[in-house]
Amino acid sequence: MSDIDVHVCEVGLRDGLQMLSTFVPTATKLEWIRAEAAAGMREIEVTSFVPPKLVPQFVDAADVVQGALAIAGLTVLGLAPNLKGAERGVELGVHKLNFVMSVSRTHNLKNVRREREESVADFRRIADMLRTLPAERRPRLIGGLSTALGCSYEGPIAPDDVRRYAAALAEAGADEILVADTVGYADPNTVRSVFRQVMAEVPELPVGAHFHDTRGLGLANVTAALDCGVRRFDASLAGLGGCQFAPGATGNIVMEDLCFLLDSMGLRTGVNLEALVAVREIVARALPDTPLYGGLGRAGLPRGYVPAAQRAAAHSC
Ligand code: COA
Ligand code: ZN
Repeated sequence: MSDIDVHVCEVGLRDGLQMLSTFVPTATKLEWIRAEAAAGMREIEVTSFVPPKLVPQFVDAADVVQGALAIAGLTVLGLAPNLKGAERGVELGVHKLNFVMSVSRTHNLKNVRREREESVADFRRIADMLRTLPAERRPRLIGGLSTALGCSYEGPIAPDDVRRYAAALAEAGADEILVADTVGYADPNTVRSVFRQVMAEVPELPVGAHFHDTRGLGLANVTAALDCGVRRFDASLAGLGGCQFAPGATGNIVMEDLCFLLDSMGLRTGVNLEALVAVREIVARALPDTPLYGGLGRAGLPRGYVPAAQRAAAHSC
């Protein structure tokens, strides 16, 4: 039996850093990754395989991946927007590749300079390339659908388009689908509607959620996704995050608060909440001018709080 009820994935080192002009030194990124893994985080998206000319923050992708792969038990992810990025990830030995395309045509053109159908074709090339690899070298492939719940260029996004692209990526060879509210347009009702439709479209695949807290509905959206059966969530420490090609996008949902919410609902994440909050110190030192968000970081755990794993153990005695 698994000791985890919900999988959480730290994306702060990718989503959180991609917009910042401050380069975070490689040693600091690795200190952050090691500390968060030690707090029980099992999946971390550690970098992005994009042209360093475009996003200098990820010029050290190779060193960061290498350092992260040395951590026992950690699943190491990297973002790949195209075949070249996926090839870099495979060469370095990441466990999971997070491919992104946007459901919004305008955002896809701005972000990856492709028509959506060209991105699907890119995804197919990646999946075909991965199939030629021996199983032990083949990373799992996530089909990420950005701006799936709204777009700051186009406004509302048709759920039919989200379904259609989820089906296209599943058919091409995705191991998981990730539905992303890149600019924080979602609300719980939309989340329920879109996730139900996507999950019915690709019933054979796990469907994860990636929410931004732009308008304060991030954790409410998590509970709506939980109602639909979603058991995989991205979040970032201290709520860092944003996309340079999506005006108005702010940070991801706060990892500490996500883990606290899940834990309070009796859903185990494997993460030690106090140890996770302590990792904020590393980020605060590295980015003194960047605001850090989060209720748990500000207020701490309620007095006498008993974590879900201990409550479960007490029940089973
Ligand atoms: N990693 C490193 N270099 C890459 C690369 C990758 N993943 N993809 C392309 N390149 C290089 C090419 O080799 C080429 O180099 P050259 O000029 O020395 O020949 C150059 O970049 C241009 O290649 P091209 O295929 O024409 O790419 P592009 O200029 O159309 O850019 C993307 C396409 C997808 C690579 C770029 O738009 C991108 O990285 N977008 C993602 C932006 C982002 O990080 N968004 C936030 C996360 S969702
Ligand atoms: Zn994001």
